[in-house]
This record gives sequence, structure tokens and C-alpha cells, in this order.
Amino acid sequence: MQAWEWRGEVLRLLDQRRLPHEQVWLECRDTAGVAEAIEMMAVRGAPLIGVAAAFGAVFATREAMATADPDQGLRSGLSLLRAARPTAVNLMHAVDGMAQHLQSRAPSAWPAAALEWAQGLAAREQANNTVMAEYGAALVSGEAVRVLTHCNTGSLATPGVGTALGVVRAVHAEGRLAQVYADETRPWLQGARLTAFELQQDGLPVTLICEGMVASLMAAGRVDWVIVGADRITARGDVANKIGTLMLAVLARHYGVRFMVVAPTSTFDLALEQGREIPIEERDPDELRRLQGVAVAPADVPAWNPAFDVTPAELIDCIITERGVVAPVCAAAVRSVVGSG
Ligand code: MRU
Repeated sequence: MQAWEWRGEVLRLLDQRRLPHEQVWLECRDTAGVAEAIEMMAVRGAPLIGVAAAFGAVFATREAMATADPDQGLRSGLSLLRAARPTAVNLMHAVDGMAQHLQSRAPSAWPAAALEWAQGLAAREQANNTVMAEYGAALVSGEAVRVLTHCNTGSLATPGVGTALGVVRAVHAEGRLAQVYADETRPWLQGARLTAFELQQDGLPVTLICEGMVASLMAAGRVDWVIVGADRITARGDVANKIGTLMLAVLARHYGVRFMVVAPTSTFDLALEQGREIPIEERDPDELRRLQGVAVAPADVPAWNPAFDVTPAELIDCIITERGVVAPVCAAAVRSVVGSG
């Protein structure tokens, strides 16, 4: 499954708000369209957000060239993309990387150079997925492995086999996956709508649960590993990921379940030391009060809707990157595997 397609004049995105019941492709033809698709979560998942923004920047170069001040035009297009969502740092790295790539070039060369850079980013992220899947699967021992995963981290969230789901797929390909539990991931239901769909399509043994069932599942000894992705990782290894990840990490430590994070180096933000420095997106409270358009709470009840939480390094057994494994998770290990920024 591939959730995006570049067609020269159009960036096509499989609209993730409509899955699993409808497969509708959204056609973005300009910078504003791509920024809106990111903000409204038609496209989502840290690595795929970065790739979508890079192709959005191709539109920004074309639009900038048609203005009286191309430098200013490009700056404002890139700023629009950069501001679309605040937590996944792949977005900022993609936009800043693109700006740097174009900096020394004449405006007439921007569109071709931007396209080449966007395609290169997509190819790198795809290759990163494959390498991380191998590294992660090698750490997961046993012949009948039971995994719990959170949110959606597969081909709908990346340009390849996925981050956490890439590892799950690799364990399955080796014939060692007994079960993968996908929690539904309230409130946006990435687990129920996307992960359950994606894994079922690929024939993996997936079972849906809701987050409230996780403690019982672990208490019953039915999980060996929690495997999740990430949206931003600091220099000391604190991990921002989909809201609910911290709860899984606390429970995993209590019940002796191992906890793995799978993320490319493009998800690290080495300018930040502590997890509390990571900006956490807060979304519309209606995402809690309504479920797929249906009211499930009093229409005016106050609701708090942070989209991410931060799991401290101390609760994580290992972070798998395409450059190697960070374990134990601490500043020195991040520095030695990922570098120092
Ligand atoms: O709000 P989303 O759906 O974009 O959040 C996605 C996640 O939190 C994923 O776990 C993360 O991006 C890693 S995906 C490869």
C-alpha cells in the first residue's frame, strides 16, 4: 500500500480521514493545499508528513517564481508548510533541508532542484524503513512473539514498510509473529481505522483492543514487546509520540514488558535536551466530543485534546534508527548513534 503519489502537477494523497471504509484520493495542486492536507490529517505520520511537505515545497518554488519577489514568495510558502503541524519534527527538517538546498541556486533552477530533493527524501525514508525493520526484528527474540502497537506507523504513515510496523512485518516475514495487538488510539482512531486495516490487508494476525484493555492484557502475560514510532526525540532520548504512548510505557515497565521505539534519524531534534521542551499539538476538542461526526458527549462539555505525549528515556529499552540501535537510551548513546546535530 502506498498512501501518496507524485504526478508532476499533482500530489495525490490517500485521504486518511476516510479510511478504512472509503479509499478516496485527495489531489493537491498548490502549497496551500498540501499545508491544509497536513493540518487536517488527510496525510499523517511523521515521515510521511515530511515527504508531503517536501513535495509541497515544489509547488512553493513554482508559485514563488511567478511573483515579483521570488525569495520572499518562497519564504512565505515554506513558512506555511512548516507551521502546518507543530510536533513531528520531520516536517521542520524537511522544510529547512529544502530551504538550504535551494539557497545557493537561482530561482529559475528551484523547481527542478526542489523536485529532485523531495524525491531523494522519499527514497531515503523508504530505505530507512527497510533497514530499521531488520535491526528491530533482530532484537525481538522468540518463535511466537506477541506485540502491542499504538497509532499507525506503517505504509500509511511513511513512504515504506513503516517504522514500528516495519519491525512487526519483518518478525512476521520470519514466521515468528504470533499476534499483534493494535490499540484503537483514541480520539482519532489511527489504530482501529488504519493499523487494523493495513495489517489485515497484509494478512498479519492482528487483534483490535482499546487502550483501557492494555493493563489487563499485560497482567495476563499476553504481550512480549510494545513497539511504537515517534514524532520527535530529544538529545537525551525522550520520545514524543501519539497520546497514550506514555501510558503504555508506564504499564510496560510495571509488568516487565519490553518497550521499543522505531524512528529514523530525521525524527531526532538534537537542539532539544528534555522532552518537556517539545511543543505538543492541541487539537479541536470536538475530536473527543464527536466520533466520526456523531456526538458522543454533551456538545458543550469542556474537553482537553493533546495529540501527543512524552515518554521519558528511562522507560524505553531501545530506539531503533537506520544508523543503529540506541540502547540503553541516554544522551551518550544518542550522540554515538545519531550524532550531535
Ligand atoms: O497525529 P498522527 O497520526 O500524525 O501521529 C502519528 C504518530 O504519532 C506516529 O506514531 C508517528 O508519527 C510515528 S509514524 C511512522
